[in-house]
Amino acid sequence: MAAFLLGAVLLIVQPQIVPSRPAINSKPESSSQSVQRELLKRTSQKNDFKENIHSNGSCQQLPQTIIIGVRKGGTRALLEMLSLHPDIAAAESEVHFFDWEDHYKNGLKWYVSQMPFSYPHQITVEKTPAYFTSPKVPERVYNMNQSMRLLLILRDPSERVLSDYTQVFYNHMQKHKPYPSIEQFLIKDGEVNVDYKAINRSLYYIHMQNWLKYFPLDHIHIVDGDKLIKDPFPEIEKVERFLKLSPQINASNFYFNKTKGFYCLRDSGRERCLHESKGRAHPQVDTWLLEKLHAYFHEPNKKFFELVGRTFDWHSFVAS
Ligand SMILES: *[C@@H]1O[C@H](CO)[C@@H](O)[C@H](O)[C@H]1NC(C)=O
Ligand SMILES: *[C@@H]1O[C@H](CO)[C@@H](O)[C@H](O)[C@H]1NC(C)=O
Ligand SMILES: *[C@@H]1O[C@H](CO)[C@@H](O)[C@H](O)[C@H]1NC(C)=O
Ligand SMILES: *[C@@H]1O[C@H](CO)[C@@H](O)[C@H](O)[C@H]1NC(C)=O
Ligand SMILES: *[C@@H]1O[C@H](CO)[C@@H](O)[C@H](O)[C@H]1NC(C)=O
Repeated sequence: MAAFLLGAVLLIVQPQIVPSRPAINSKPESSSQSVQRELLKRTSQKNDFKENIHSNGSCQQLPQTIIIGVRKGGTRALLEMLSLHPDIAAAESEVHFFDWEDHYKNGLKWYVSQMPFSYPHQITVEKTPAYFTSPKVPERVYNMNQSMRLLLILRDPSERVLSDYTQVFYNHMQKHKPYPSIEQFLIKDGEVNVDYKAINRSLYYIHMQNWLKYFPLDHIHIVDGDKLIKDPFPEIEKVERFLKLSPQINASNFYFNKTKGFYCLRDSGRERCLHESKGRAHPQVDTWLLEKLHAYFHEPNKKFFELVGRTFDWHSFVAS
């Protein structure tokens, strides 16, 4: 008994991320594994990961929701808009806990130390767009909290590819480095190049399958990123409902900036627009290339719609 207690204390002091059983894997786990899992569960339920409790009553807490992606899907916009809600405490920068080994090995104590100070009634949220497409991440999130509610913002896969390319292109330009044209990445031997990472990231069904091994569909709310940009309020209302937040954000929190061609946010009189890099013009892409891309995504998109039981208004050109 004493040894068991000592073990428990050690585990609390130095939280281990224990490998645990995925939802669909029926392989029996060893008893030591299940004991560890039980302990991890208990320690997290008691919220022993609350860190640095401040005299004003705020503290750092593990996130109750994570924006998992997708890269270039509008994750920053979603986080900023969600932050309009008084019960949301958002981590400023991308944490990359579950996808970067250097961070993950530091354990949950490190993770919680990256979180903003929040009050008990608040929901902590972090966003790391790379989580969605990293195969290891779903299980790791599951091991931390099986009841986690996840937010995923997606855009038209073809548009996302162009946006993905554009970001890297601008990064190179700023450093005065040359960067190949988009055609050179997109096309190999006359066909769409599936080895190009930006293409893979837009194969949403592949990545979604990984998440659905661990989380039920109703714990993953998909925000329509194309709609969020055109008309943010209805999409944000749905997120409020999904997170069971009181309806506090309203239409007057958003106003359209004609110069930008984008919505900006109004937060108790304070107005702010997203960073300049958001909404950069895409490169000019030949029609044939665009059509090839649209045709390429036709099947993957269909698979994704079947997987999530919902359709999206994405380009899905079928060559006749
Ligand atoms: C409470 O303390 C934390 C940590 O110093 C700080 O970040 C936060 O702004 C404080 N909140 C208020 C309302 O003073
Ligand atoms: C796990 O996630 C759920 C859903 O967000 C939340 O209610 C619960 O408090 C979380 N548990 C811990 C230990 O953070
Ligand atoms: C796409 O990425 C996933 C996850 O990283 C990987 O498992 C898969 O093999 C990749 N597919 C292609 C066609 O490269
Ligand atoms: C919208 O919310 C703001 C606070 O963010 C509030 O001042 C305003 O009265 C609300 N407007 C409506 C129409 O509910
Ligand atoms: C609208 O966007 C322009 C261009 O980015 C910016 O200079 C201006 O401050 C914005 N105006 C408002 C009211 O947000």
